[in-house]
Amino acid sequence: MIRSALMNVMTAAAVKAGRGLKRDLGEIENLQVSIKGPGDFVSAADTRAEQVLFEELSKSRPGYGFLMEEGGTVEGSDKSHRWIIDPLDGTTNFLHGLPVFAISIALEREGQLIAGLVYNPASDDMYLAEKGQGAWHNNRRLRVAERRDFADALVACGIPPLARAQLHPRFKQELGAVIAKCGNIRRMGAASLDLAMVAAGQLDCYWERGLSAWDLAAGAVLVKEAGGYVSDADGQDDFMAAGSICCGNETMHRALLATLKKA
Ligand code: IPD
Ligand code: CA
Ligand code: CA
Repeated sequence: MIRSALMNVMTAAAVKAGRGLKRDLGEIENLQVSIKGPGDFVSAADTRAEQVLFEELSKSRPGYGFLMEEGGTVEGSDKSHRWIIDPLDGTTNFLHGLPVFAISIALEREGQLIAGLVYNPASDDMYLAEKGQGAWHNNRRLRVAERRDFADALVACGIPPLARAQLHPRFKQELGAVIAKCGNIRRMGAASLDLAMVAAGQLDCYWERGLSAWDLAAGAVLVKEAGGYVSDADGQDDFMAAGSICCGNETMHRALLATLKKA
């Protein structure tokens, strides 16, 4: 386990915001049956969670800047630090009462990602990583899977929703190429958890396009600290700017990139 002041600050904020999300998930079961559905309720839950994270992190680290999915950019007086936050990653799962969603918090120092937290409050799975300190799931040190043969690989992906149908043709091409070569595919529905599961060696690799910095920042620290390789889906380093991701152990990362390139 990493015992640092920074991890304590991040964990405390996530656990506090997570308590609210867990309570809200319970409410969703009642709202599912209404005609309007829980849509507005979920947006409110999302915003509330972000507010808690913003307040807690601002209290513990005054002056740090923020990049948040809901609230956008908040400039800090401390120009070298910035939190990158998705208060509810896996909104569609949450909306349907599926307990596969997470709070994602990353910290950037001088433009470099130095810490990541991914926390699923429904299952109490806490994933933490700090640069040079490894990646952890609760009290267990994480390593990416050792698998070497892409034909055995369990590969995660993200499927663009109907609202982003313009991304479907490319996705279908890439999916076709990948399923022709890998063991099998999973679509979990929360990018931060896909990355955490790659770090934990449960998934061999993962690719997705059309993402934002807050989907990727924390999970990428986990994968790197677990010994994995991370790039954008075209093999370039700056996955945050590209909004796409490809990761896995060195061999799986290379095999998946090569497959995507040929798609
Ligand atoms: C989404 C999830 C999903 C991915 C989407 C993301 P949200 O984040 O990470 O797995 O496929 O593209 O936008 O909207 O639930 O925070
Ligand atoms: Ca997200
Ligand atoms: Ca979100």
